[in-house]
Amino acid sequence: MHDINDRKWWKEAVVYQIYPRSFKDSNADGIGDLKGIIEKLDYLKSLEVDVIWLNPIFKSPNDDNGYDISDYRAIMEEFGTMDDFDALLEGIHERGLKVILDLVVNHSSDEHEWFRESRKSRDNPYRDFYHWWPAEKGKPPKRWSYFDLEGNAWQYDEQTDAYYLHYFSVKQPDLKWENPELRRAIYDMMHFWFQKGIDGFRMDVIPFISKDPEYPELPEEYEGDFIAYYANGPRLHEYLQEMNREVLSKYDVMTVGEAPGVKIENALDFVDEHRNELNMFFHFDLLALDRAPGKVFQMREDNWKLTEFKEIFTRWDEVFSEKGWGSLFLNNHDFPRSVSRWGNDSPEHWYHSATMLQTFLLSMRGTPYFYQGEEIGMTNARFDSIEDYRDINTLTAYQIAAHNCDDLEAFIENEKEASRDNVRTPMQWNAQKHAGFTSGEPWIRVNQNYLQGINVQSQEKDSHSVLNYFRSMVKLRKNNPVLTYGSYRLLDPDNEEIYAYTRTLGDEKILVLLSFFEKSSTIDLSKELSFTRGDLLISNDEAKKQIKAPVFVLSPYQAVIYRLYR
Ligand code: GLC
Ligand code: CA
Repeated sequence: MHDINDRKWWKEAVVYQIYPRSFKDSNADGIGDLKGIIEKLDYLKSLEVDVIWLNPIFKSPNDDNGYDISDYRAIMEEFGTMDDFDALLEGIHERGLKVILDLVVNHSSDEHEWFRESRKSRDNPYRDFYHWWPAEKGKPPKRWSYFDLEGNAWQYDEQTDAYYLHYFSVKQPDLKWENPELRRAIYDMMHFWFQKGIDGFRMDVIPFISKDPEYPELPEEYEGDFIAYYANGPRLHEYLQEMNREVLSKYDVMTVGEAPGVKIENALDFVDEHRNELNMFFHFDLLALDRAPGKVFQMREDNWKLTEFKEIFTRWDEVFSEKGWGSLFLNNHDFPRSVSRWGNDSPEHWYHSATMLQTFLLSMRGTPYFYQGEEIGMTNARFDSIEDYRDINTLTAYQIAAHNCDDLEAFIENEKEASRDNVRTPMQWNAQKHAGFTSGEPWIRVNQNYLQGINVQSQEKDSHSVLNYFRSMVKLRKNNPVLTYGSYRLLDPDNEEIYAYTRTLGDEKILVLLSFFEKSSTIDLSKELSFTRGDLLISNDEAKKQIKAPVFVLSPYQAVIYRLYR
């Protein structure tokens, strides 16, 4: 059971994700950098968050914005130097915060020295750091690639007359974990960062690292679902346990895996404490909710339903109710803005839905992860023109669509909701030029609604801002361990307008009511709930200070939390 006796700092933490490229530019080249983050450390502290997760900051040719690493022990030139990193780390720790980095070890850049060597000859000492298929064996069995024009993960390389494997772009060759030397090199690199003092890793597509080196045809049971196949390699858990034994167990650190393709049936294999693998992972069930079946980046045609949304969170709470621990997030650098996607970013409902979603994440069991700008209710960029997009995923998909003579207007309409660039626009600091992100030309367009109050500076001054609500809600979670450790019970599951649940720890009971609806709505919980009195803890709108009966009227996107007494 999770209880207050089983406390862990990473269970109690609120994580704040920084996409360094878009956070703050300190030298006017239009690209965010480490010195920019240093300038904002007091701001981060003021949010009352505990852990900063930095997207990749390592040397990279930036084919996929840093997820293609050419040197794991060097800092990306645009972001600064190792001295800047050391200063940042010190600044973070001085303020009592922690930092986790992105561990991208399913693949490297093709410009990494390992790969430059590997492709030179078939007997190069680094040959076996990557997956190669000699051409004389004929065409390799089909493997699907995310960012490839032909969706083909095998790239022919003339130099040695062989194909190499790349689940992502051609510039992201997959590392061969089957080779113990490669694993050793990765573990050494992890030690290097832990010895510097970092506090953990978010692990990029970590379930993909194990591959069958015979590269068989896709087994029938995975028909049409390469992602699930990739996430289920034969030696995956052996590698994770080895990594834990060799590296993680030696430090007091946290780990969170990014886990596309991992099914709930296998969830505990990763995070059951007795297995000594990871602390948490990000599942992809929510992210599929508004997408066409089997299509990661295509919106579904009808609307998602609140009952489906609740079902996902309830199921994932349940699986970790005795063992393991969950992670909670509504957006990140790959997935569109939460308020635009799960709330309603029209001027009328923006404030309430942004704060309602914050209330949700901060009142659920699991470690909550916020993405930069979520604390001020930043919205999807929704660029109209392909010229404004920067993401390799959108640009590749556009080329494919153009090649297939697809309807390109429909393509852009889809990207306005689904593109990763929706969340990658610069952080909105103030109402000055480029939202105060840079005094140069930003690498990607700024969302113009920084002029309509969606910026830090104007929200600082306003006690009723999304930003200040966020701070109050974080405080409420910190002051009430029931919100971290308490058990969760879903109420009125069939309600399509209101999400209602309780959190209980010992004698303490908290009731959370969240409207996901654009009109006022009523909920009657008298069949499921009895109490003598409830006291208001927080709401993003007018709410009764004290309640005696379990019938509630909520305004559009209202969030309200009561403490209940028996
Ligand atoms: C993960 C990252 C994403 C990246 C991909 C390849 O999904 O979050 O941004 O493109 O892995 O590294
Ligand atoms: Ca810069």
